Amino acid sequence: MAKIRGIYKCNICGNIVSVLHEGAGELICCGQPMQLLQEKTKDIGFEKHIPIIEKSKKGFIVKVGKIPHPMESGHYIEWIEGAGEKGEIARIFLKPGDKPEAEFCFKVVSARELCNLHGLWKTS
Ligand SMILES: [Fe+2]
Repeated sequence: MAKIRGIYKCNICGNIVSVLHEGAGELICCGQPMQLLQEKTKDIGFEKHIPIIEKSKKGFIVKVGKIPHPMESGHYIEWIEGAGEKGEIARIFLKPGDKPEAEFCFKVVSARELCNLHGLWKTS
């Protein structure tokens, strides 16, 4: 059974999907079950992935890492997702060269981000 808000990856073709509604079926891609990405909340080592939520002029800004995460073509943050206290969810897609941060116009109470190399991370 798929998990609501779960992020699943196909380890063959690289497709990544987000579940908006839970169903009984298993998610299959390229003939194999897709892998549920685990939300990591603790960094090990030098590189920092944990999203940091800060108040901004327009609303709230989510930055990836106390030390800004790299945004190079081979290693970057693909997207940052902010979730609000009233059920709001917004996802901002990034590309190499962008700053590893995203601004939201609602009060962000938790955030997730996806690093193309190191997977899914969540505010602890
Ligand atoms: Fe990374």
